[in-house]
Amino acid sequence: MVRGGRPLYGTAQVPAAKNSVLPLLAASLLCGGPVRLRGVPRLSDVEGCMALLRGVGCAAAWDGGDVVVAGRAACCRLPAEETARMRASVLFAAPLLGRLGRAETALPGGCNIGARPVDWHLGALERMGARVEQAGDRLILTAPAGLRGACIRLPGPSVGATETVLLAGCAAHGPTRLQGAAREPEIVDLARFLNACGGCVRGAGSAEIVIEGGRPLHGAAFAPMPDRICASTLACAAASARGWVTVAGCAPGLYAPVLDALEAAGCQVLRGTDSATVGCAGRLRGVGRLVTGGYPGLATDAAPLVAAALLTAAGQTVVEDRVFEARFGCAEGFAAMGARVRTGAAGRELWLPGDGRPLHGAAVEAGDLRGGAALVVAALAARGQSRIAGCGYIDRGYPALEAMLARLGARIRREMPPGPAD
Ligand code: EPZ
Repeated sequence: MVRGGRPLYGTAQVPAAKNSVLPLLAASLLCGGPVRLRGVPRLSDVEGCMALLRGVGCAAAWDGGDVVVAGRAACCRLPAEETARMRASVLFAAPLLGRLGRAETALPGGCNIGARPVDWHLGALERMGARVEQAGDRLILTAPAGLRGACIRLPGPSVGATETVLLAGCAAHGPTRLQGAAREPEIVDLARFLNACGGCVRGAGSAEIVIEGGRPLHGAAFAPMPDRICASTLACAAASARGWVTVAGCAPGLYAPVLDALEAAGCQVLRGTDSATVGCAGRLRGVGRLVTGGYPGLATDAAPLVAAALLTAAGQTVVEDRVFEARFGCAEGFAAMGARVRTGAAGRELWLPGDGRPLHGAAVEAGDLRGGAALVVAALAARGQSRIAGCGYIDRGYPALEAMLARLGARIRREMPPGPAD
């Protein structure tokens, strides 16, 4: 429940990145010794990946704010329920296959922001010697002779497929050269972890990565990078609600296009080494066309968040997502709050009203993780009360968004759903 119209003030600490922690948990399957990930946020997707690890025979548990993974995978079958619920489950196939010579999984689920096939993951694994059989939505991957290094060119930039090749390459015999790799910082974090465990991954962060295979990986203690999309959410919340917010613990360079867009819209942005302060008092102005792309471009995950921040801006803004085909499910919720938005280009574009009109509270429903967070960002600016249903989506990516915003002065609370009894 959000009562908008109150500016935000204070400092918020950015948690560790969900999209780094999930591949790191998959990578722990390759490690011969215990893995400790430090300062992991309590997210439903993290719990889901820990359930996947336990499902294949590893021990995965919380130790304070850390997650500790120990033991070797004994079973090649990933639990169907968690696999179907979460897109990141596809990342567990390669290490399981590398470790056991077989992996049974299902076509992954995840937020409905587009088709999200895994053909590039599977194609890369086949190039490395795996056989892939599909029975319904079950996937059986086998590599009886193990995986072998190969030269792989991905058909397009894919964060997940790049991570699959890094994981498979570490388990493979011989070197793997990956061309057309995605350049996201979370991939660099994964490479840092694999190298800390005794692997040899070179070039992560560029479009060409070389992985030397066949090196036994030991365990490691590792602190995942900060969540640049959470940082973007806080910055957009400050712009939407107005006020003065310091987003601490995340280098501004990790979400520069978001900060640049807010600055172009009239926010004051102070960039530190490890923090950014976003100040906004008056009216915001439109910023023209914003287009998402692979890193270091505007992150697709930030598209709905920036749109939410600029709904009341005077002057035209169009946000175009070139990564996913259904990123703007939140447009319906924005319209319910009185923003005359419209989508174009088969849903890939969101045209903001640009009429400077205020928003009013409304009852809306989250349909995906970042769209849900965007509805919260918009509700902070809306006059009156808003009710955002479907917060389970938001909990996939934010440890406690309402607590984080309430600490900055937002009038926001979570209304517990009626229990089974009543
Ligand atoms: C990762 O998803 C992130 N998830 C997403 O964040 C993020 O939006 C996305 O990267 C882009 O940055 C995690 O890291 C767990 P992709 P991923 O493979 O790997 C197509 C969030 O909100 N594609 O880079 O699934 C695909 O359809 C989530 O935290 C294929 O066609 O994204 C998409 O159009 C949402 N075949 C494009 O590539 C494939 O085999 C980019 O997808 C793989 C991808």
